[in-house]
Amino acid sequence: MFDLQNIRKQFPILSRKINGKDLVYLDNAATSHKPLHVLDSWQKYYTEINANVHRGIHTLSQIATEEMEHSRRKVQKFINAKNDFEVIFTKGTTEGLNLIAYSLNNLVKADDEIIISHLEHHSNIVPWQMLCERTGAKLKVIPMDENGVLQLDFLDKNLSEKTKIVSVNQVSNALGIINPIEEIISKTRANSNAITVVDGAQSVPHQKIDVQKMGCDFFVFSGHKMYAPMGTGILYGKEEILRKINPFHGGGEMIATCTFEKTTYADLPFKFEAGTPNVGGNISLGAAIDFMENIGLENIKTHENVLLNYAQKKLLEIDGLKIYGEKAMRTGVVSFNLEGVGISSDVGMILDKMGIAVRTGHHCTQPIMSFFNIAGTVRASFAVYNTLEEIDILADGVRKAQRMLS
Ligand code: ALA
Repeated sequence: MFDLQNIRKQFPILSRKINGKDLVYLDNAATSHKPLHVLDSWQKYYTEINANVHRGIHTLSQIATEEMEHSRRKVQKFINAKNDFEVIFTKGTTEGLNLIAYSLNNLVKADDEIIISHLEHHSNIVPWQMLCERTGAKLKVIPMDENGVLQLDFLDKNLSEKTKIVSVNQVSNALGIINPIEEIISKTRANSNAITVVDGAQSVPHQKIDVQKMGCDFFVFSGHKMYAPMGTGILYGKEEILRKINPFHGGGEMIATCTFEKTTYADLPFKFEAGTPNVGGNISLGAAIDFMENIGLENIKTHENVLLNYAQKKLLEIDGLKIYGEKAMRTGVVSFNLEGVGISSDVGMILDKMGIAVRTGHHCTQPIMSFFNIAGTVRASFAVYNTLEEIDILADGVRKAQRMLS
């Protein structure tokens, strides 16, 4: 049974006061809070284990290795990857995307094309621009309409044998728009040999992921938006491609043999995991998966959709409030502005005085803001522990901000 009060009890931070008021935390798309199960796992690692992995013969190192590899298998199951060695620990989505963009360097040459969408976070724009600069490839962008819906006929017209990579997010961090990722992948497959990359940073916290069903070549996400510690993340890649491409970082752990003349690389996944990993974080990512699976991915999705629909209804009752993005295609996020009233950060600062945490500004998506000809939005984003009462508090707070700024 879905027991919201019991879920909230697992997040000690939710009972703290901010500016004398109960915290209303609606900045979950930036980072979610961590439940006791994850905090305990983190603490247990540092108090009882704290050893490096894959190196030592000693007991603690063996325990650390076993626990981290156990967590890798949990991630494998969580996203339904075929093999555990297709799951690579990173420090977050940004690192995952940079890893891919760097490692695909040899497969891209001058005049090839890379396709992204107008809805991308800067972390799914800049690494590809850098790859284009290194190789002379061209960046193309799937356009969107005024509702933030991607115009997929662009793919029909632009996919060709020149297209080497198509990289799109599953859910937009700025608008919460859910992109038709399976359609994008099947169009790409039908019309090119391009490698498909999916940025799942904003989808993984809210829905069940099945990378085999999705059919993508790469899928990246962050742990810290799905109740795990910061500095954790996952890169999933299909075995066949991971074997073909070069590692991103060189160093310890990722070699099979090393001489001054030549180094050979370790097998998957270690080829892509140079240096000491975030062992405690990676183990705690497994604890975050336990937390989500104990509640049930479907229950999380249902509850968050109730919150989203209620937030849309309550906010739209406010005169002059505009929500960005197609209503029927959103998850987890409401992004809005008050017409003619200050800038988004003014609204955010007033809300903060009332204990309400939202993100304001461009949300690392300046091209989306330019499209709407705005500097930023106020973004409220939800997690499984949010309540309908908190949305009432948000709506009252926005009304108050409107009065103060008018
Ligand atoms: N990418 C994160 C956000 O959307 C930080 O807030």
